[in-house]
Amino acid sequence: MSTQQRVLSGFRPSGPLHIGHLVGALQNWVSLQESYRCFYAICDWHALTSEYANTENLKEYVFQMALDWLAAGLDPERSTLFVQSKVKEHAELHLLLSMIVPLGWLERVPTYKEQQQQMANRDLTNYGFLGYPVLQTADILVYKAQWVPVGEDQISHLELCREIARRFNALYGEVFPEPQPKTSRVPRLPGTDGRKMSKSYGNAVYLSDPEVEVRKKILTMVTDPARVRRSDPGNPDICPVFTLHKAFSTQATQDTAALECRRAGIGCIDCKSMLLGHLNPVLSPLHERRAHLAQKPERVTEILELGAEKARQVASATLQEVRDAVRI
Ligand code: TRP
Ligand code: SF4
Repeated sequence: MSTQQRVLSGFRPSGPLHIGHLVGALQNWVSLQESYRCFYAICDWHALTSEYANTENLKEYVFQMALDWLAAGLDPERSTLFVQSKVKEHAELHLLLSMIVPLGWLERVPTYKEQQQQMANRDLTNYGFLGYPVLQTADILVYKAQWVPVGEDQISHLELCREIARRFNALYGEVFPEPQPKTSRVPRLPGTDGRKMSKSYGNAVYLSDPEVEVRKKILTMVTDPARVRRSDPGNPDICPVFTLHKAFSTQATQDTAALECRRAGIGCIDCKSMLLGHLNPVLSPLHERRAHLAQKPERVTEILELGAEKARQVASATLQEVRDAVRI
């Protein structure tokens, strides 16, 4: 058990999870449970770095995220599922790391300027937002995780995490392993309007959407605009529906859809129905588990509390080593 390598990952609780999160992250997290000791954190402090002025839904988002995770198959018997702010060691390590991170390293992280521009409606000149990747580094190092499953967009944060670990080790002695990213090869899923799936575009299919809602969203999804009439041939390579086929349908269905699209043998509604035939069986067990757990909020709270306790055991042992190394 203790010889198992450790994995840590997390999400910011900024809203409900969608099928892009499922294929891009959660399915991978579920399979990592087989061979690693996994820590999965709901990073509510990270949510505050940009949403410090909008905290009214934060607790509800944390709860909904726990439901999404459990519904997707994260197993509290095998993985440690917890809320970041319940494990104060993250904050202590963040503070100690903040002493050794040059400002230039943080200002150079590409997501820093990008996100400031993207979220121009918020004031993101705050200290905590600049320190976002240091907090993320603390999340990882406090468990001495060797592996961090993340999307491509997080690679620069991981890079920085390794640099910080190296700097700490050089200053105070070898305490931390240098964690490696485990990126999943799945491309980003398009949303119903063809842009990348995102809550802010209003184009997402959520894990919590009931089947009728999923159906409605898929059936009204944009397709190859060249297929104005049923008799017009299409090009699956530029159709967002086909990208979803690649994520959810069998190879046989993908081949049929592509062939029949190109020769106008099927209409887009037929094609979407084929997709639903594969998507619904993936989502329905998830919906069942979700509905079941939503009836027992105290069970979810208990899972998160037990998770925080397990996390704390590991984190506090690391912090003892860290304090000794720093001589504080
Ligand atoms: N920054 C990650 C995201 O936005 C969330 C996160 C916080 C995280 N702490 C982490 C991911 C530690 C991996 C490891 O998705
Ligand atoms: Fe897209 Fe399918 Fe319509 Fe082709 S048939 S354009 S792949 S939805």
